[in-house]
Amino acid sequence: MTGDPMFWDADTTFRELREQAPAQQVVLPGGLVAWMITGAAEARQALTDGRLAHDMRRLPDPRQGFGGLRYPDDLFSAEGRHLLNSDGTAHQRLRAILAPLLTRTAAQRWQPFITRTCAELLDSLAGADHPDLVADYARPLAVRVTTTLLGIPEDLQHRLTSLTLTMISAADPENPTVRKHRTELFGLWSRVLGDKRRRPGDDVLTRLTVAHRQGRLSAEELLSVAWGLFSGGITPTTALITSGAVEAMQSPELRRALHAGADATRLTEELLRLTSPFPVATWRFALEDVTVGDTLIPQGAVVLIALAAANRDPDSYSEPDTAHPHRPGAHLAFGLGPHYCPGAPLARVQAAGALTALFGRFPDIRLATAKTALHRQGVLVDRCYESVPVRTDDTTTIQDAT
Ligand code: HEM
Repeated sequence: MTGDPMFWDADTTFRELREQAPAQQVVLPGGLVAWMITGAAEARQALTDGRLAHDMRRLPDPRQGFGGLRYPDDLFSAEGRHLLNSDGTAHQRLRAILAPLLTRTAAQRWQPFITRTCAELLDSLAGADHPDLVADYARPLAVRVTTTLLGIPEDLQHRLTSLTLTMISAADPENPTVRKHRTELFGLWSRVLGDKRRRPGDDVLTRLTVAHRQGRLSAEELLSVAWGLFSGGITPTTALITSGAVEAMQSPELRRALHAGADATRLTEELLRLTSPFPVATWRFALEDVTVGDTLIPQGAVVLIALAAANRDPDSYSEPDTAHPHRPGAHLAFGLGPHYCPGAPLARVQAAGALTALFGRFPDIRLATAKTALHRQGVLVDRCYESVPVRTDDTTTIQDAT
């Protein structure tokens, strides 16, 4: 893996790696040596192997985890105390606080809000001179749902979102501007959480501040879990809706099905598999020598599980690069095991609602540019397209277009 990840074709890179070996050592841009897992069977094994830890503080020498190359500072600081940096009982404690707030039943209650928000955004999209599915539809939807779920005041939503996106896509976390943004971001979070304590509401942040007051969540964990929920809620959901729409614009079968609005749940699953909006699971660290498949991963190694590669493994999926709406079987887009995404029900409701609303309203919507001209934010963390310009003004009908 060489060159600037911004210019990788992720699916090709992952396919090439998987064809070389289902688990292998790679050198990431910047020089970090990691073990990348690309086979589906190996990914399933690794995702559920407790010896591959999330908390690098459990390594005999924690700094060994990144070979001294990656900013250990922020991993040990307040914002590094969330679910994806914890294991075992510490993780179970955090999960027990969060999971009841994100159940399937709770997600279903968002349906009317999502339908209403999609309709509003589609009205604006219809009137826009240069409609963009990322900036004008998928992201505002994900931001509105996430900020309302968490209970973030309207006047802070814009700044929090832009700082969060800057942080996630920052190539160099040590860059002075990035550090400045981080300080501002966590200053804002402290303010939001302080306000929540003084003026509680019926929202997730209020429940988290109550858990903090009851001593079930430390101050660092409160901040870290809140920020993790915000960033983790917005970015992959935006990526799923936009990448899913791009796939559907290329496929008459998907387009027709989304237009009809039937079987949206199943279609969303196939789009999750095909587009893998969370392409690579978060860092894990080998606490001891671990054999994954036939490959020995040495103690201390950084392990990356490429969900996007596993989700297109031909040993698990026939014609893996093609969307088959009726494909049976599970995918790994939400991970597996103890860290399986607790936001999956809400993400599914949002994506199914957004895609059926989009193709229901604009059956003939199409890209305003070649698909090859679309650029992604990155490969490893945020896989969303930077923008997806579309045309909604086609006068042909769905029957004519397909
Ligand atoms: C399409 C949208 C989404 C995708 C593809 C996705 C994917 C994932 C994946 C793969 C993981 C596990 C990572 C690992 O094991 O290293 C994860 C964890 C997590 N996700 Fe999501 N996610 C999505 C939406 C959401 C939403 C909407 C929320 C919250 C509202 C959310 C909150 C979380 C949290 C808190 C974790 C950490 C869980 C833990 O460590 O126990 N995600 N997500």
